[in-house]
Amino acid sequence: MKIDVLTIFPEFFGQVFDFGIIRRAKLAGLVEVNVHDIREYATDKHKMTDDRPFGGGDGMVLKAEPIFLAIEHLLGTSDRSEYSESVRVVMLSPQGRPLKQQIAKEFAECAGHIVLICGRYEGIDERVNEMLVTDEISIGDYVLSGGEPAAVVLTDAIVRLLPEALGSQTSAENDSFSNGLLDCPHYTRPAEFRGMSVPEVLLNGNHAEIEKWRFEKALEKTKRIRPDLLIGENGEM
Ligand code: ADE
Repeated sequence: MKIDVLTIFPEFFGQVFDFGIIRRAKLAGLVEVNVHDIREYATDKHKMTDDRPFGGGDGMVLKAEPIFLAIEHLLGTSDRSEYSESVRVVMLSPQGRPLKQQIAKEFAECAGHIVLICGRYEGIDERVNEMLVTDEISIGDYVLSGGEPAAVVLTDAIVRLLPEALGSQTSAENDSFSNGLLDCPHYTRPAEFRGMSVPEVLLNGNHAEIEKWRFEKALEKTKRIRPDLLIGENGEM
């Protein structure tokens, strides 16, 4: 998989992709992540990437042309109907589809080349969305000052699902959300810590009982914290 990030703040990304699972996946050749400065594609002498909004109003709007040129450089076309099947061009913005585990899974399984466009909160010329973008994604119902943190979140969520990125495949299958529930509680040594003991069931080696306990705890926690996850599309529990 190849992930290209388009941003006006390339320094923001520093070493953020150089730790843990993303670093391992990069070293193993499962993914290549490149960060590109949109400013390098600006054509005017001041290398302007934004401009005042037509119709007036506060703030500046990211210009279409540098982003079109960057996409043409990366994908050979600025017409999304010509992208190959495994290409996704993602706009990170609060207007997007809310990111869910299922979306990360779909990207991990079907996308070979992902371009992430980091918007700024004031906005981005709509022609970018009309011609270039295949998916607009939000990481939650709150407003960030730019799409950069969201690009990091999405990259992490996708890369850890690539086959062989995690040490053991079962750990991705056991993640929160992959079965529609929050994760169960975990404990490690010592069995007794400052007067708090680990639930007895985890110490007895009975794997069927442990699985049952974990499921019950996950269900209990989900009911308490995220009952919305238990409600089906038709409103049934
Ligand atoms: N840019 C600004 N806010 C965002 C959000 N909530 N998700 C994705 N990108 C954003």
